[in-house]
Amino acid sequence: MTREGLIHLRRVLPVLMIAALAGGAAEKSTSPDIEHWRKAFARPDHTPEPADNPANPEKVKLGAALFEDTRLSGTGNVSCSSCHQADLSFSDGVDRHTGLDGTALDRRTPPLWNMAWGLSWFWDGRAGSIEAQAAGPIENKREMAGNLEHAIKTLGSDPLMQESFAAAFPEDPAVTRANLTKAIAAFERTLVSPETRFDQWVKGDDKALDADELSGFSLFVGKAGCVGCHQGWRFTDEAFHDIGLPSEDKGRGPILGVSAADHAFKTPSLRERVWTAPYMHDGSLATFEDVVDHYAEGIVKRPTLSADLPHTIELSEKERAQLVAFLNTLSGDDPPRPASLPPKTMTWGAPAQAVSTTTVSQKDRRFSPGAILLKVGEALRILNDDTRTHNVRVDSANTSFNSDGQNPGDTVTLGFDQPGHYDIICGIHPEMRLSVDVASAR
Ligand code: HEC
Ligand code: HEC
Repeated sequence: MTREGLIHLRRVLPVLMIAALAGGAAEKSTSPDIEHWRKAFARPDHTPEPADNPANPEKVKLGAALFEDTRLSGTGNVSCSSCHQADLSFSDGVDRHTGLDGTALDRRTPPLWNMAWGLSWFWDGRAGSIEAQAAGPIENKREMAGNLEHAIKTLGSDPLMQESFAAAFPEDPAVTRANLTKAIAAFERTLVSPETRFDQWVKGDDKALDADELSGFSLFVGKAGCVGCHQGWRFTDEAFHDIGLPSEDKGRGPILGVSAADHAFKTPSLRERVWTAPYMHDGSLATFEDVVDHYAEGIVKRPTLSADLPHTIELSEKERAQLVAFLNTLSGDDPPRPASLPPKTMTWGAPAQAVSTTTVSQKDRRFSPGAILLKVGEALRILNDDTRTHNVRVDSANTSFNSDGQNPGDTVTLGFDQPGHYDIICGIHPEMRLSVDVASAR
């Protein structure tokens, strides 16, 4: 082939690829490129676990309870879930969480999906196992300021905890530091991000992604060079790279004592990231758009820049939007709530000692029964026994309530101190209506 021919081919290849990927419904997707990428991004069929900490349901349940237990903190009011909030994909929505000393922590709270497949933990990879990681925040003065020995004593004197530890560790039924971190780690391994539309496409459904999303994917694995680091179904190579953020944080370098690794951080997964803004180790980029702009034009040039970072990435406005459209396909429609977490219970206005409680179902996007008669002092319990996230809202002349996201398994318990008529709807599926008539107590 002539040199001109080669140059021409190089120029048209990305175009051909986009054409192949976006190739209309009529064409069958037999392009070798597509098959290659579908294999490269296929999900594994089981979650790995270490031989010395096999999961069992009691252990996972204990781990989930410890994840929310504020007794692990020195101040008695901080738990893992204070920063790793389930509704925000186990992050916290701020650039850097305010530590117990009142100043911002050094780095952003990372989401906790798919930890089981990790090779190292923390932004700089300083923890070598999830078990080892768990002790870190408990004893960190600015995070939980706890003392593990003290926490072990407190938990060890709680009969409920003694029981739970015994059930979780039948071979070694004791409240110990090792068992505590094992239980938390076993729970963390259950946090597996569910399939999204992208996975449907990977499995062969050509129509799961629209043309812009496919073009975005083409850019991701093509000229934008993202796949150089964001590889595989979790979209991370588990390696450390300096991607040219202005931050002064040296990251991996000091951990290794190797200055060539200064400013390098672990490539984050891109799963369920729609809920976890702001982005990067310092939370310095507010949106996916800002992230793409950074790669296109914001990279700070310095000797430690990763060799896997393309030297120039020229992206038009349209291409940037397509990349963002693709990134969005790696998250679900709602923040996923793992089945291993206890359901949420929300209460509003209901008396602690209700005379009686009526339960309403939300199966198949319908309140059932659809009309309820209550008396003041009685409680109404709305149970999400559906497969979708709902939202419970009461809007009337003298009262208004909004439950926020109500995930499958969650309950909202309501009480009314004024007789009258109330309409309850789901803000997400407004066709769901529940009519409540409240009579006075007698
Ligand atoms: C005060 C907020 C806060 C609390 C409380 C907290 N974390 Fe974190 N967590 C962070 C921050 C910030 C980081 C990143 C720190 C770093 O990389 O230097 C982090 C990192 C992690 C990581 C590493 C994730 C990864 O991608 O490598 C795991 C796992 C984790 N935390 C689990 C826990 C557990 C378990 C608890 C409770 C025992 C907990 N965290 C309590 C803020 C918190
Ligand atoms: C050289 C490796 C490399 C390449 C190439 C790369 N990334 Fe990244 N990406 C990283 C690293 C490392 C971070 C975290 C950097 C930090 O916090 O200091 C990151 C962070 C991100 C984040 C933020 C995730 C979060 O939770 O904070 C997004 C989104 C992202 N990259 C998307 C992309 C896109 C889109 C491209 C292509 C335009 C791309 N990346 C190219 C390594 C890379």
